Amino acid sequence: MIYKFIKKSSSHLIILLHGTGGDESSLLEIGEMINADASLLGLKGNVNENGMNRFFKRVRPGVFDLDDLVYETHSIKTFLDDFLEKNGFDYANTIIIGYSNGANMIASLIFHYGGIFKGVALLHPMVPIKGFKVKNQKTQNIFISASKTDRIVNAEEPVILNKMLEDAHAKVKLNWYNYGHSICEEELSDLYHWVIKL
Ligand code: MLT
Repeated sequence: MIYKFIKKSSSHLIILLHGTGGDESSLLEIGEMINADASLLGLKGNVNENGMNRFFKRVRPGVFDLDDLVYETHSIKTFLDDFLEKNGFDYANTIIIGYSNGANMIASLIFHYGGIFKGVALLHPMVPIKGFKVKNQKTQNIFISASKTDRIVNAEEPVILNKMLEDAHAKVKLNWYNYGHSICEEELSDLYHWVIKL
């Protein structure tokens, strides 16, 4: 897995997963803004779609290759287990943040592995696997951001995702903005204040 790691002295780690067409550096600024003392790990998706990096294949926009999604989900978890152990981090001190395709990958990760992180931020996610039996979230804290004017993510998707995660005992905060599929200032400010309270 290709990644960028910025090591700081604290035991806190923020993992960042970009949207389609991004890379391992795309969200580092957001991580720095959220907690300047935390170490940052930016991941680059393994899939190349016409020159754009992604975390899993899709058949067409909004229709995912589920076999590939499940395969990549397990391989990211294996990578993270190894990375955290080798670098002395703990999932309980780790926040994971993803945007769009990266948020969909993180949603799949917690669907499969349950409440392992200190905090999870899903910026403009979809439901990665419809009807999935979500593993127990054990009161995992999850921030979801969404927009009713998003042309990529139908407004029903974050609502369904919220319910699936709450039904699996997560503590979800679903936030609505008006900037389409883009990340806006207000969203980042809300994310910052949400992280402080974790
Ligand atoms: C996805 O493919 O994961 C979603 O359509 C969002 C995106 O375009 O990245």
